[in-house]
Amino acid sequence: MTAQILDGKAVAEQVRKQVAEAVAARVAAGKPRPGLATVLVGDNPASQVYVSSKQKACAEVGIESFGHKLPATATQEEVESLVRSLNEDPRVNGILVQLPLPSHLIEEDVLKAISIEKDVDGFHPMNIGRLAQKGRDPLFIPCTPAGVMYLLEQTLPKLEGLNAVVLGRSNIVGMPVALLLVRANATVTICHSRTKDLPSVVRQADVLVAAVGKAEMVRGDWVKPGAVVVDVGINRVDDPSKPRGYRLVGDVAYDEVAQVASWITPVPGGVGPMTIAMLLQNTLRAAELADGKM
Ligand code: GUN
Repeated sequence: MTAQILDGKAVAEQVRKQVAEAVAARVAAGKPRPGLATVLVGDNPASQVYVSSKQKACAEVGIESFGHKLPATATQEEVESLVRSLNEDPRVNGILVQLPLPSHLIEEDVLKAISIEKDVDGFHPMNIGRLAQKGRDPLFIPCTPAGVMYLLEQTLPKLEGLNAVVLGRSNIVGMPVALLLVRANATVTICHSRTKDLPSVVRQADVLVAAVGKAEMVRGDWVKPGAVVVDVGINRVDDPSKPRGYRLVGDVAYDEVAQVASWITPVPGGVGPMTIAMLLQNTLRAAELADGKM
């Protein structure tokens, strides 16, 4: 079997177009443009790249962005006080504090300081708690997990009763993806570094979401024929033949797994573009929530 490609870049493009149209309609109706504030603490090069791509994507769909940078030495109080001032700013509908934060800062307290109506990353403990509870709904779903589910829906509109395996249990991806799969009535297994006989557990998956951050860890013979494979990993591996000296690969050995799976996301061009598209969608939603309050 040769897998079909779940093209995140193309799907993200459609979502961005829808967001751009909705923003234009808001503006034509005399409503304010949605606004996203980004908070970058320190100078982690990957975080700088992510934040600037988020700001660029905002500009392309007509969302205003307000970039805030604090030095790596910023105190807990400085970061929280910036967040509180953004909570009060009516031009700001969404607040995104780029993670990871420098290690002296208490991430949970910073995330808790964000007003839940502006929590477009969905990482506030209240939003995550609601995601985990039956009969409750978060105001926002974290962007990468939402992007994974959106892609799955393109090929598997009904996940009910399927075996889903999530590789990785991070706060940003693995755990919220697993919660979303449970909400979609899949039977969910979360694997991690202590899982025994990982290949045989992964082989049970009708749907596999790999989010461990280990280059090409999932091999072809780990995957059930016909499975749908979503690869969240973005890992650099040395490659002297490339101008930058490296190339990007996922957590899945693409060439091998593509021989076995029915659908697979590429890296790059799979989940990555969906994260940003979901952030734009969440920011638009935050602006709509704010309309109701004016
Ligand atoms: N770091 C890695 N992914 C994310 C994300 O989706 N949001 C934020 N705020 N930080 C991240």
